[in-house]
Amino acid sequence: MKAALLVESLTGNTWKAAEKIGSNLEQEGWSITGMSRVGRPDHASIQAADIVLVGTWTHGLFVVGQAPWAANAISNLPAMQGKKAAVFLTYALDAGKSLDKLTHSVGATGAEVIGGLLIKRNHLDMHTEAFADRLVGAIEVAAGG
Ligand SMILES: Cc1cc2nc3c(=O)[nH]c(=O)nc-3n(C[C@H](O)[C@H](O)[C@H](O)COP(=O)(O)O)c2cc1C
Repeated sequence: MKAALLVESLTGNTWKAAEKIGSNLEQEGWSITGMSRVGRPDHASIQAADIVLVGTWTHGLFVVGQAPWAANAISNLPAMQGKKAAVFLTYALDAGKSLDKLTHSVGATGAEVIGGLLIKRNHLDMHTEAFADRLVGAIEVAAGG
């Protein structure tokens, strides 16, 4: 499988998570077509990918009002029509319904969102491994093997 990574990150956690996800997937035999920022998406890497992995971070008041940062920019991403997508979201304490909101934003691009996972910022290793494992599993099930 070929995956593109699209990332929004303020302080680096989500970018680091994306790098870890990329290397976990490469260990599973996937290739990464590119990693770029939501604000400056690398169209070529999206076009070349079977699946686009979109990651951002949780913004809110920690227990209320949480939402995925850059939700509007994400829902306006080009070249996502007909692609599979999966989402990930880093957070500190409580992400509220942000993962559902992010799924909705990515779905608005015309991509088919097959899943998503929350990644706690102080558990980056464990949660990015879980994301990559589940993604590989989901794709194998979808492919019938
Ligand atoms: C202004 C601001 C608001 C935040 N609000 C929340 C929140 O409501 N809930 C939460 O769990 N984390 C919240 N966080 C923590 C971030 O989601 C978390 O640190 C995330 O990993 C940052 O990703 P980044 O390093 O890629 O920018 C907030 C961080 C900032 C800077």
